[in-house]
Amino acid sequence: MVLLTGGAGYIGSHTCIELINSGYDVLIADDFSNSKPEAVRRLEEITGRKIPLVNIDVADKEAVEKLFNENEIDAVVHFAGYKAVGESVQFPLKYYRNNIDTALTILETMERHDVHNFIFSSSATVYGIPESVPLHEEMKTGCTNPYGFTKLMIEQILRDAAFANPKLSVVLLRYFNPIGAHESGRIGEDPNGIPNNLLPFITQVAVGKLPELGVFGNDYNTHDGTGVRDYIHVVDLAKGHVAAIGYAKENKGCEVFNLGTGTGYSVLDIVKAFEKVNNLKIPYTIKERRPGDIDECYADPKKAREKLHWTAEKTIEDMCRDSWNWQSHNQNGYE
Ligand code: UFG
Repeated sequence: MVLLTGGAGYIGSHTCIELINSGYDVLIADDFSNSKPEAVRRLEEITGRKIPLVNIDVADKEAVEKLFNENEIDAVVHFAGYKAVGESVQFPLKYYRNNIDTALTILETMERHDVHNFIFSSSATVYGIPESVPLHEEMKTGCTNPYGFTKLMIEQILRDAAFANPKLSVVLLRYFNPIGAHESGRIGEDPNGIPNNLLPFITQVAVGKLPELGVFGNDYNTHDGTGVRDYIHVVDLAKGHVAAIGYAKENKGCEVFNLGTGTGYSVLDIVKAFEKVNNLKIPYTIKERRPGDIDECYADPKKAREKLHWTAEKTIEDMCRDSWNWQSHNQNGYE
């Protein structure tokens, strides 16, 4: 059975479906601090399966111990963690405490129970300000905010743990920019409050909840001056986790993989693609740069292709269509 910490969240919920489709039994642990129980209900509707769910904080050692005592867990995908860059600058201790504590608690409990497969949700943010693109896994790391540092620190903790315990298999997955939603339109990204990220902002403008998009800067060193990112369909990303579990079962030690498409799109490329595929108009104005943003960030996806036998397949049109399909059918997310 695969334990998904934070399994009710955006990436966790999509991964849950792909794991079930691949024949895995799953168990979700989530404290719903940034997700909704309704997401799990819909996962059951989509998969036609009862999905075991425990409402716990995975930093709670006793609760996690009980979970491992009561279930036959043989792999963990650790999604749970705070993820808002701006908030992490404001409340760094909250981020360090929560993100590091949850990872350590899971890892210590796994060791006690002889569970050896750990898949970690890392982020392309660990590359900091890239010296060049595309980014490959051996490039130097460095962060610009506490959120990013928690990811980098947990990567280091896991590397050290795998070095010390030869039975351990750790896969570090560096996500680029996940967007889109399950094709059913029943699950998707449901951020609290005003979205920080581009796609949820665009879809909330499209649905009329926000008046217009602010484009953060048009003087970057990119083809049209707006920031370039590697947007990846969340279902492709979810399938990357299935591949990572397979890899962990076959290989000991610690490996790191980029999960991206290898293609960069600018903010205005995304706005145009979204407008075209959904036949909508997204009003926008150019604003100041957002502090901490970089010009360009996209993956070299070769290592994941060769070693995980995984490649992103969906197009930018698929991503824009599925994001809108989710938002337009769920104007207030899961509420
Ligand atoms: N952007 C806007 N307007 C908005 C929101 C975003 O113009 O309202 C622009 C940004 O300036 C950037 C691009 O859209 O150029 C993407 O911004 P996002 O906030 O969607 O994503 P980021 O690339 O900034 O951050 C994402 C994740 C982080 C992660 C990082 C890793 O949100 O958690 O990728 O690369 F750390």
